Amino acid sequence: MIIRAIFFFLQLAIGINVLAAGSGGAKLLDANVDIGHQNSLQRGAQTYFNYCAGCHSIKYMRYNRMADDLGLSEETVKKNLMFANQKIGDNVNVSMSPDEAAEWFGVTPPDLSVISRVRGEDWLFSFLNGFYVDSSKPTGVNNLFFKDTAMPHVLWELQGYRTLDENSDLQLATYSFETVVPGKLKQSEYEELTRDLVSFLVYVGEPARLVRYKIGFWVIAFLGLLFIFAYFTKKEIWKDVN
Ligand code: HEC
Repeated sequence: MIIRAIFFFLQLAIGINVLAAGSGGAKLLDANVDIGHQNSLQRGAQTYFNYCAGCHSIKYMRYNRMADDLGLSEETVKKNLMFANQKIGDNVNVSMSPDEAAEWFGVTPPDLSVISRVRGEDWLFSFLNGFYVDSSKPTGVNNLFFKDTAMPHVLWELQGYRTLDENSDLQLATYSFETVVPGKLKQSEYEELTRDLVSFLVYVGEPARLVRYKIGFWVIAFLGLLFIFAYFTKKEIWKDVN
């Protein structure tokens, strides 16, 4: 009886796995981000404000908090990242109205404050690396990881345009791209840029994580010291016994 029950659950588990693989489409790329690198976060912020902020807000983030966390001066943030009429304590909003956006794209570009927690870092990285030419779409592109997305390939100047090889089999996660219009960056440089951008979005999704990283360092350092102290104390106490 028990064996049959175990067998049944095994079958169920295998069945679910097969379903998940079937519906998932292409296998996600590995984002491999590390938000402990402040330079990477700064570069990501710059890319976000240059290429994304026109359409997407991150309204749970304030400029001054970001300046503090990323080690940027308020002057730098004001000069490079903010619109003229904004104050340093403001939230990061977009100038475009939701109605206009809906008219242009058919959907309002979503706020990206917690997108890294909703989609996960690997999905974001894959999405930014998944655009390919598809002339049947109004934007001229489709996305391997977000089929029929309304978002244009806003980074095309950097990455260039790629086509999806026709022998690609998405179910088997074997696919390849071919560059048809070269961009300003090499593919490896583009991947670095999007990795920094994803790091920035991961930070935005959970700013407290940076604080935890710093505290974590001191906790480990403290435990290390405690260990050394305990070790020598032990040696001292047992010295006569051995
Ligand atoms: C020209 C406007 C525009 C710009 C600029 C833009 N996006 Fe988008 N984005 C959109 C639209 C519209 C959608 C909604 C797509 C849909 O639902 O099909 C979207 C969707 C997304 C999504 C998917 C959200 C979800 O889970 O549904 C992510 C992630 C995203 N954008 C990230 C970015 C990043 C990062 C940048 C900067 C490199 C950027 N976008 C620049 C218009 C834009």
